Amino acid sequence: MKIVKTVEEWNEIYSTIKNKKIGFVPTMGGLHKGHLSLVKKSQEQNDITVVSVYLNPTQFNDKKDLATYPANFDDDVRLLEQNNADYLFAPTYSVIYPDDYRYKVSENDLSRILCGASRPGHFDGVLTVVMKLLNIIRPENAYFGEKDFQQYKLLDGMVKAFFMNVNIIPCPIVREENGLAISSRNRKLSETGLKTAPKLHEVLTDKSSLEEKKAELEKAGFKIDYLTEQDGRLYAAVFLEDVRLIDNVRCE
Ligand code: PAF
Repeated sequence: MKIVKTVEEWNEIYSTIKNKKIGFVPTMGGLHKGHLSLVKKSQEQNDITVVSVYLNPTQFNDKKDLATYPANFDDDVRLLEQNNADYLFAPTYSVIYPDDYRYKVSENDLSRILCGASRPGHFDGVLTVVMKLLNIIRPENAYFGEKDFQQYKLLDGMVKAFFMNVNIIPCPIVREENGLAISSRNRKLSETGLKTAPKLHEVLTDKSSLEEKKAELEKAGFKIDYLTEQDGRLYAAVFLEDVRLIDNVRCE
């Protein structure tokens, strides 16, 4: 696997790639089975798979959350090599933001609710960085996990709104056997937290009402940010031991 750090280096490589389909998996590092399922899907559907690892500061409204994001670059490189990714794009802030974030992409409907309501500016940061990454890498297909379903919908809307020549491919949530949606943030939970966390998915999928679900989660020790139904999906964001966990399921 070749590690690429600048746009110029990638442009050089890109100019040698002829008639090959490029699949792209953007990440912020802290790679886990969920990310690897995106890499696998990209490898099945493309000739070349590029993964990016860039911990994007502009999507963190909470600086402590950014500073404690559980990612280790060497572990990520090792995992990607073991899983036969072709290229790792690992830029710095000045490579991604030569404008120092003077220019941004924003959406003013879906991005304002759910995670957007409690994390002001979060989706501006996500949309902006993903547009930049897509413009740099120029893939045919880009892969995103459905755990961040709102993010997937916003990105899909963005590429359509801006006539971008890329397919946004949603991939199913990867769960632990106990139902917990796999996330880098799970690593921040204590052993006790890890035992409680699967309750979120259990409660989301049981037959109770929204109010009953909220009460059940609070009883188990979760602090609820939101738990709501939107367009046939049940979305939740909760705090457990100060760690923000999100999940969503299709309503039956
Ligand atoms: O889902 C993520 O990991 C990030 O939001 C993304 C899409 C890599 C943009 O920084």
